[in-house]
Amino acid sequence: MELEVKIYNDPILRKKAKDVKEIDDRIIKILDTMKDIMYQKQGIGLAAEQVGLTEKLVVIDLRPNGKNEPIELINPVILESEGVYEEHEEGCLSVPGYYGSVKDRKQGVKVRYLDRDANEQIIETDDFLSVVLQHELDHLNGVLFIDRMSYARRIMFKKQWKKMHSKRGEV
Ligand code: NI
Repeated sequence: MELEVKIYNDPILRKKAKDVKEIDDRIIKILDTMKDIMYQKQGIGLAAEQVGLTEKLVVIDLRPNGKNEPIELINPVILESEGVYEEHEEGCLSVPGYYGSVKDRKQGVKVRYLDRDANEQIIETDDFLSVVLQHELDHLNGVLFIDRMSYARRIMFKKQWKKMHSKRGEV
């Protein structure tokens, strides 16, 4: 399956994803391809919209022990969230070459999802994984981390992005 990463300004990144109705071969293939892309690009998470699809699919791997330990989330939902995660920098495979400070992440989340065998799973975390989950689930709502930066930083980003891409004639 050939999929490619969609870059900032691609309208697909602004779409709301839909529930997966049935976990069939196609869905499994998409998850496998998304993991391949995530590892290839050395990302820690990827949502389906980033590869041009509008289904609620996310893959994450923080490689906690230095080896691959992927989490595949189908139809993930945040059930609970609490606290405030300290201000930190985020990046995104759809916004290559840019990192920016985000301040409105929650400290802890409880997320419910289906795994590839259609079993319901729950993750409860207040570690960095919490932030990654929020970042990826935002993608499914058409939200990018850029949108969560301060107004001043967003303006700066847009200028920088324009500069970076006008050089290559991609505006
Ligand atoms: Ni992202």
